[in-house]
Amino acid sequence: MTKKIWSGRFKKPLDPRVELFNASIHFDQRLYKEDIQGSIAHARMLGKTGIINRTEASQIIKGLQSLLISIEAGTITFSSEHEDIHMNIETLLTAKIGPVAKKLHTARSRNDQVALDMRLYLRNAIQELTILINNLKNTLKKLCKKHTHTYMPAYTHLQRAQPITLSMHLDAYTQMLNRDTDRLNDCLKRMNKNPLGAGSVAGTTLHTDRSMVSKELKFDGIIENTIDAVSDRDYLIEFLANGSILAMHLSRLSEELILWASDEFGFIELDDAFSTGSSLMPQKKNPDIPELIRGKTGRLYGHLIALLTTMKGLPLAYNKDMQEDKEGVFDAIDTLKACLTVLTPFMESLKFNKQQMLTAVNKSYICSTDLLDYLVERNISFRDAHEIVGLLVHHCIEEKKFLNELDLNTYKKYSPIFNQDIYEYLNIKNAIKKRKKRSLSMPS
Ligand code: ARG
Repeated sequence: MTKKIWSGRFKKPLDPRVELFNASIHFDQRLYKEDIQGSIAHARMLGKTGIINRTEASQIIKGLQSLLISIEAGTITFSSEHEDIHMNIETLLTAKIGPVAKKLHTARSRNDQVALDMRLYLRNAIQELTILINNLKNTLKKLCKKHTHTYMPAYTHLQRAQPITLSMHLDAYTQMLNRDTDRLNDCLKRMNKNPLGAGSVAGTTLHTDRSMVSKELKFDGIIENTIDAVSDRDYLIEFLANGSILAMHLSRLSEELILWASDEFGFIELDDAFSTGSSLMPQKKNPDIPELIRGKTGRLYGHLIALLTTMKGLPLAYNKDMQEDKEGVFDAIDTLKACLTVLTPFMESLKFNKQQMLTAVNKSYICSTDLLDYLVERNISFRDAHEIVGLLVHHCIEEKKFLNELDLNTYKKYSPIFNQDIYEYLNIKNAIKKRKKRSLSMPS
C-alpha cells in the first residue's frame, strides 16, 4: 500500500473498505483533461507570481502535458488507492517528474480544484449539447418547410380540435428547443466564473493572481467570495433543471410519435432502420427509439431531485456529500447527448402519411369554431352562436354526417343567418389561411 498524500497526522493505514467507499476515481476520471488544464494554468500562475520558481513551473507544466498524452494514449491506469482524479494526477506527476511535483498543490485545495474541473467540463458539455440541439432544430425546420400543406387536426384533450398543418405543429417543438438553448446559454453565462484560488474555503495568504488563471481558462472573472466558490453547486442544479426541461420536450415529441405510429392514428410510418421487431409477434414494428427517449426522461428528473436533496442541508462550505454531484450530472449529459443524437436522424427517416392525416381532418367536426366565428362576424352573440353550432353538430352525429355534408336548408333551420358562403368557412385550406393571417407568428 502506497503512502497517502495526506498521511502525516495519521498513525494507521486506511481500512480497505473505507478506501473503496470514499473513492470517486471510477467516475471522476473523466475529468482528467480539465484537471490537467486547470493545473497547467495554476502552475503557470505560481511561476509568474514567484510563489515557485519559473524552472519548477515549466517542469511541472511539461510533466502535465506529457501525462495528458499518456492518458489519451490509454497507457495509464488510475487507482482507487489515490481516491480521486486530483490525487491520481498528482501522484502520477510525481512519478514522472519527481519531488518538484509536490509544489503544484501550493495555494490550492481539492475543493476549489474540483469546482474548477466541473465548471470546465460542464462548459464544454453545454457547447456540445447546443450543437446537437441545433441539429435537431434544423431537421425540424426542414420538415416544417416541406409540410406547409400537410393538413392535420390540432388536438386538445387528445380530441380533434381545430385544423392546422404539420408545419405549424412541428414548429411548436422548434420554439421549445429555442427556449432550451436560451436556458442552457443563460446557465453557461452565470457559471463561467473561476473558483480556483478559493483554496479550501477562506482563500490563501500567498500572493496568487486569480485573474491570470481566469484569463487563461477563458472565464469571465473570478468568484469573489471564496466560501461561495467552494460550496456552490447551483450551476449543476441549473443544468439539471434545464436538462430536465429539454428531456421533457423530447419526451412529449416522442409520445406523439409513438401515438402517430399506431394503427389507430397511422400518421407516420417508421423506417425499418429506426424501429424494432418483436421476438414473438411477427407483425410488430415497434417505436423503441421514442419510447426509450420518453423513458430516459425519468433519469434526468431523478438526477435533479437527487442533487437538490443532497445540497439542501449542507452547512457551508465543502462537505464530502458534494462528491455525489458527479455521477448524476455525467449521466444527464450522456443521456441527453444519446437522445439528441438518435432523435435527429429518426425524425429525418419518418414517412408522413398525408392522406391519413387529411382524413383525420375531414372526418371530424374540426371546423365548428369557424362556423361559430361566421355567426359572430354576423352579429350573433358568442354564446348563442356556440349553442347553434352545438345543435348542428349534434344533428350531424345523429344523421351520421359531417358539417360540410349538410345542405343550406338544414343550416337555415338552425339560423336564418347562414348563407351559401358557409361552405367556404368549412373548407380546411381557407380555415388555416385565415388563422395564419390572424396569428402572425405561425410559420407559413
Ligand atoms: N473527490 C472530491 C469531490 O468530488 C474532491 C474534493 C475533495 N475535497 C476534500 N476536502 N476531501 O468532491
